[in-house]
Amino acid sequence: MNWLSKLIGRGEPEYDAGAGTMVFGGAEPRIAGSSSDLPSFRNPAGRITRRFARAGAQDARALIRDAFTPSQPVNERAMFAGRRNLLENLIVAIEDQRLHFVLYGDRGIGKTSILHVLSDLAADADYLVCYISCGDRMSFTDFARRIAQRIPLLYHGDYAPGSVEIEKGMHLADILPQGDIDVSTFGETLGKLSDRRILMLLDEFDRVETDEFRRSIAELIKTLSDRAAPAQVVIAGVAPDLAELIAQIPSIRRNVLGVLVPNMSDEEVGEMLAIAERRTGLTFGEEARELIELASLGLPYLVGLVAQHAALLATDRGEMAIGKGDVREAIRKSRTELSGRIAARTLHAIARASQGDQLIELGKLAHAALRAGGVLAEEMVPLAVREAAGGKPVGAELLEPIEGDPLGRWHFVDDGASIYIWLSALCAE
Ligand SMILES: Nc1ncnc2c1ncn2[C@@H]1O[C@H](COP(=O)(O)OP(=O)(O)OP(=O)(O)O)[C@@H](O)[C@H]1O
Ligand SMILES: [Mg+2]
Repeated sequence: MNWLSKLIGRGEPEYDAGAGTMVFGGAEPRIAGSSSDLPSFRNPAGRITRRFARAGAQDARALIRDAFTPSQPVNERAMFAGRRNLLENLIVAIEDQRLHFVLYGDRGIGKTSILHVLSDLAADADYLVCYISCGDRMSFTDFARRIAQRIPLLYHGDYAPGSVEIEKGMHLADILPQGDIDVSTFGETLGKLSDRRILMLLDEFDRVETDEFRRSIAELIKTLSDRAAPAQVVIAGVAPDLAELIAQIPSIRRNVLGVLVPNMSDEEVGEMLAIAERRTGLTFGEEARELIELASLGLPYLVGLVAQHAALLATDRGEMAIGKGDVREAIRKSRTELSGRIAARTLHAIARASQGDQLIELGKLAHAALRAGGVLAEEMVPLAVREAAGGKPVGAELLEPIEGDPLGRWHFVDDGASIYIWLSALCAE
């Protein structure tokens, strides 16, 4: 038994070439009902108010889905676990240091959830918060107009209270020029704001494909800093470091703080589970909790995914207590669920690694990447892979050097591959 299979272990995965997915042996719990029944939604889509203890089986499932939302960021303060130090540091950076900052970290580490809570806290302190989720084709003009639509002209120094424009309820967007908006025009306009600080949150920044937009945001940060404008920019995205996110603009480094979102500690994972326990009335046994801590590697996405499956399995058995067995099975189910979201090419490569007895080695690499914000130091990548990227050795098509990374680090090509490999390694014997 190796270090992974001691954790959990049963059965090799089989590759189902037809379906393009990996399938584990062992029966999946069946949904009650005759085979001729058409499928139906099992949960009402309305708001859930009753607690699990008083709810029927249907509502119990809905409650669990409401308590763990692996596919959605946290939208409610009550659902947000941990991250106290990080939030405190961010608040100091905004309030005292008046810095702009880049919040970066691997997929599913909780960047958007942090931005949501931060925006809530900032709104409580009377900041005018503008949250924008970037798209791949985002232009600076789109960005500027969207922000300006949220800022009442009341806060523009050139417009006195009681003026016609303010009485009409006009916004900054109404005084921006037609057509394209350049950085200096927008920066100048923001520089004229008074009596209210503006916090601009730019999420999913890594999705932006044009360098021009990145460069414009960097220039805007520089302009706002130089003018001491009451407006700050917070950027969030997946990036191994700032250099990749803000395209090589040294002039703004002094004004921008880079903040890596770390993996959660065991206490923080425990807090996530405790919130879910309070919401549902279910309980995680000690061993179940430990296994979730271990298997999730402190990734909140993985905590939510595994814990949700485990909770559903327990309720299917009519139990309120979630045991280690439920978590084990939940890891398998999570893995199967993830296989549907990974490119067939990647699944083939992982299946090859499993057949070639190298899944555990690959699992170790995935483990290292998941613990380190999605990146691997060059020396961690096996020499055969480094020398033959794109060639035959197992893993060669799964890993690639990070483009332009000054440290020469590597990462998994496919976004979801590291989590899927890690779960596969956990399940393998
Ligand atoms: N502090 C937290 N407390 C509770 N749940 C959290 C927390 N942070 C993240 N989560 C959960 O983890 C999952 C991923 O979070 P989120 O979407 O915020 O991550 P992300 O870093 O923005 O991901 P992506 O890179 O895909 O945009 C979500 O299901 C969210 O509910
Ligand atoms: Mg996000």
